[in-house]
Amino acid sequence: MPNAEKFWDKTAERYAKSPVKDMAAYETTLERTRAYLSAEDDVLEIGCGTGTTALLLAASAGRITATDISSNMIEIGRKKAKDQQVDTVDFVHATLDDGALDSRSFDAVLAFNLLHLLPGLPAALSRINGLLKPGGVFVSKSVCLGEKGWLWRPVVGAARLVGLAPYVNVMRIAELEAFIADAGLEVVETGLYPPSPPSRFVVARKP
Ligand SMILES: C[S@@+](CC[C@H](N)C(=O)[O-])C[C@H]1O[C@@H](n2cnc3c(N)ncnc32)[C@H](O)[C@@H]1O
Repeated sequence: MPNAEKFWDKTAERYAKSPVKDMAAYETTLERTRAYLSAEDDVLEIGCGTGTTALLLAASAGRITATDISSNMIEIGRKKAKDQQVDTVDFVHATLDDGALDSRSFDAVLAFNLLHLLPGLPAALSRINGLLKPGGVFVSKSVCLGEKGWLWRPVVGAARLVGLAPYVNVMRIAELEAFIADAGLEVVETGLYPPSPPSRFVVARKP
């Protein structure tokens, strides 16, 4: 089992119970995301966690395939979908590399609080581009700790060494947006929800 999977499996129960830290920023993220979805859309979410966001967006999309590297997160998501009687969100234990996605193409791909956790971000973004229909949108929000100064690199490195943090790419906002543009996606909207820690909201369209 890869380290990231172990880390997030261990975290899942606690993650499910932790409240949203900044509700206003979260509501803005949901509202801006809904602006790009429509009732017929086939949507992929990657790194869906325990599914809170997918379930809140379900009424604004056709179907959502909500995926995560952690089977524990996916289990919790499935239970929440059942409790809330939402049957248009499919929770699937998968990463972007999953071959089952090869034959699919989506109107929208969503990645909230995920891109900074992916080693090999350029390859991941190129895969996301490949999974989008022409004209489809990639909606993401990523923590850009590089905006908070150089000290964060050693801090995150030390936390990772003792098992308190997963892999984290300490990026600046400009680096993140350059990665997205280099993958062939056109940035159409950005925001900071919340500004601290700097959480960059980026919507990018596949031409
Ligand atoms: C910080 S949580 C964010 C969860 C949710 N998107 C949210 O905004 O609350 C990061 C999630 O990404 C998942 N994850 C980490 N690395 C991943 C990868 N390589 N592929 C798919 N999911 C991954 C973790 O299991 C975790 O559920």
